[in-house]
Amino acid sequence: MRRMSSPMIAPSILSADFARLGAEIDAVGGPEGADWVHVDVMDNHFVPNLTLGLPVVQSLLTATTIPLDCHLMIDEPGRWAPPYAEAGAHNVTFHAEATDDPVAVAKDIRAAGGKAGLAIKPGTAFEPYIEVLKSFDTLLVMSVEPGFGGQSFIADVLDKARAARKLVDSDELKLLVEIDGGINADTIEQAAAAGVDCFVAGSAVYNAADPAEAVRKLRAQAAATPRV
Ligand code: DX5
Ligand code: ZN
Repeated sequence: MRRMSSPMIAPSILSADFARLGAEIDAVGGPEGADWVHVDVMDNHFVPNLTLGLPVVQSLLTATTIPLDCHLMIDEPGRWAPPYAEAGAHNVTFHAEATDDPVAVAKDIRAAGGKAGLAIKPGTAFEPYIEVLKSFDTLLVMSVEPGFGGQSFIADVLDKARAARKLVDSDELKLLVEIDGGINADTIEQAAAAGVDCFVAGSAVYNAADPAEAVRKLRAQAAATPRV
């Protein structure tokens, strides 16, 4: 099936140099550069790793015009997620596994001016969230266990991307299907074929000699892959 829009690439700054984040974001900007910059927020509770939080995101928002795609791998998203939207993050994604009331959190994010995203870990089923996803703008399908960059792609999760794509194409859901974890030149075509709209790539972009070129190449690869 023909895709309606160009595939989106969201480089994850988890693999960037944290001492030079502004410059690292500039390195993926420019014509045909990053559509979103993916910012991984980890609290060392929901995942066994600690990264950055709201003050850093607030600074990044003053340093770039590229929309920030904040992926919150944290407990208590009801408390912590809406302030990212208030600060001006474009997309605020939290984990389905971290809350009993994802719809309420989505409403608060939207009320604060952000787009709401729901992330599901590799072992979390998609079907129970179909109704819930009517309140969301993005579904983030995790293709690694959240917590670290540079892990291997888990292809089994593509069934969830395919199922979501089907519901979007039949107008039962209206959202972007995003995938995160292990996306690189060897794996992006499988994900594109499954109907993913937006591809997060950390190590594949920031370990490349030319990160902007890596973004363009990944997008071109996805765009050249027909959906099946
Ligand atoms: C992992 C993060 C990812 C990570 C992806 O928990 O959510 O965004 O940066 O890194 P790569 O692309 O290297 O798998
Ligand atoms: Zn992420």
